[in-house]
Amino acid sequence: MKLSIKTLPQLPKEVVVPNYDRNKLKTKIVHLGFGAFHRAHQAVFTDILAAEHNSDWGYCEVNLIGGEKQIEDLKQQDYLFSICEMAYDNWSTRVVGVAKEALHADIDGIAKILEVITRPEIAIVSITVTEKGYCYLPATASIDTNNTLIKHDIENPTKPKTVPGVIVEALYLRKEKGLKPFTVMSCDNMPENGHVTRNVVLALAKLRDPNLANWIEQNVTFPSTMVDRIVPAVTPETMEKIQKQLGGIEDPAGVAGEPFKQWVIEDNFVNGRPDWQKVGVELVNDVLPYEEMKLRMLNGSHSFLAYLGYLAGYLYIDECMQDPFYVKAARHLMINEQASTLRVKGVDLQAYADSLLDRYRNTGLKHRTWQIAMDGTLKLPQRMLDSVRFHLANNTPFDCLALGIAAWMRYVSGTDDAGKAIEISDPMVDKLKELVANSQDNQERVKSLLLLSHVFGDDLPNNQYFVEQVTKAYLSLRDIGAKQSVEQLAESF
Ligand SMILES: NC(=O)c1ccc[n+]([C@@H]2O[C@H](COP(=O)([O-])OP(=O)(O)OC[C@H]3O[C@@H](n4cnc5c(N)ncnc54)[C@H](O)[C@@H]3O)[C@@H](O)[C@H]2O)c1
Repeated sequence: MKLSIKTLPQLPKEVVVPNYDRNKLKTKIVHLGFGAFHRAHQAVFTDILAAEHNSDWGYCEVNLIGGEKQIEDLKQQDYLFSICEMAYDNWSTRVVGVAKEALHADIDGIAKILEVITRPEIAIVSITVTEKGYCYLPATASIDTNNTLIKHDIENPTKPKTVPGVIVEALYLRKEKGLKPFTVMSCDNMPENGHVTRNVVLALAKLRDPNLANWIEQNVTFPSTMVDRIVPAVTPETMEKIQKQLGGIEDPAGVAGEPFKQWVIEDNFVNGRPDWQKVGVELVNDVLPYEEMKLRMLNGSHSFLAYLGYLAGYLYIDECMQDPFYVKAARHLMINEQASTLRVKGVDLQAYADSLLDRYRNTGLKHRTWQIAMDGTLKLPQRMLDSVRFHLANNTPFDCLALGIAAWMRYVSGTDDAGKAIEISDPMVDKLKELVANSQDNQERVKSLLLLSHVFGDDLPNNQYFVEQVTKAYLSLRDIGAKQSVEQLAESF
């Protein structure tokens, strides 16, 4: 039997269920990207707000590309889904009730999605679609007009497929109808995610109609956010555990994440917002220092562990944490090479680093190194390369960052240290394979991959010291493997 309004009374009494009147909820937020993260993060904060503070903010959950099944599952179970908190072996579960509607572009049609987004009461469009959903070039944070889907949206603006295309068309329709705009809030892991979103939306709007672009510039806000909760992709084992938590009731839309959660939002909304501050969300004037801290210390060390861990045969982050040299190197990276580059004030960064390592040790999480290693071409700039630029400008060492970047190069070269082929998932996978195939496995490989100017810009490949450091690390990985390279580096601190 599946989770639904009818089966709620059958759940074990420890499960927290929506104890508020769901009929009073109004769809005021359209969320693009009903993936694991949204379910375990923004939806939970909003659900607690409804349960504890009588909020009437509800969601229309939308997937544009992929995730058809999640939307279908949600529809079939009265828009209910569960989230389990995994603290080692101690799990707890909440059923979230704030979703009111759900749509998929390929099932319900883009016209229906646009109809919902142009309802006057829609105040916010929020987004978690992974970095590639923004169709942007990370080195410049500008729109990628060579992206096939963006080309489609330029030619067919009324039938958009991309996130920027849907937002531009919805804003166009609202402007035409004389309606207030909505706030566009990215919750993806990108530096200044609000600026990136604004850039791609404005660039596309300009191509559509300069008056529209002016209207958006003057009337729409794109608050940046810092989002944090580790939510691994759901595996069949997680599904089984979720079902056990639900006393045997199935929930294919269920998800599981760590107990920790944090959300910092730039308080800049044009059409109202939920009182998220009542449930622990920090609403601030400037998110950038927090974002930078999280992207470099958490995401940067995650990527470092993911590439070096995967190469060494560690499938999960908690396995990396059982290797004392990986722990020592990750901590050194966080404190000496990332924290030292940050602008954030009033945060104990040593304590933050230790709390991150504690979170990584959680054996309940089973966060795959392969999952974190995905889409490296879109992640390296904000997670590692911005810090490298800081060190180059300040003449300070960056050995861990160099090893992390070299480990990505080794990873995209396609074979782990045991000689097993790696399945690379990246929007630039074809280009990566071409560069690898046409270069020898030595300093040539490093030079060749550095040619990716969307990733490394034009400055880094021309910085001799940077190239030397990454090449030295690459050759070490080739010759003695990831495990020993990490050990040698950690012993040198
Ligand atoms: N999972 C985490 O631990 C975590 C933590 C912090 C932030 N985030 C952010 O959330 C994002 C999503 O993570 P997730 O765990 O939900 O992933 P997921 O794979 O479960 O979901 C991805 C979502 O993005 C949509 N999507 C993918 N490609 C798209 C495209 N090209 N255009 C439009 N939609 C697209 C899918 O439909 C799906 O809804 C991450 O990339 C990151 O930016 C995740």
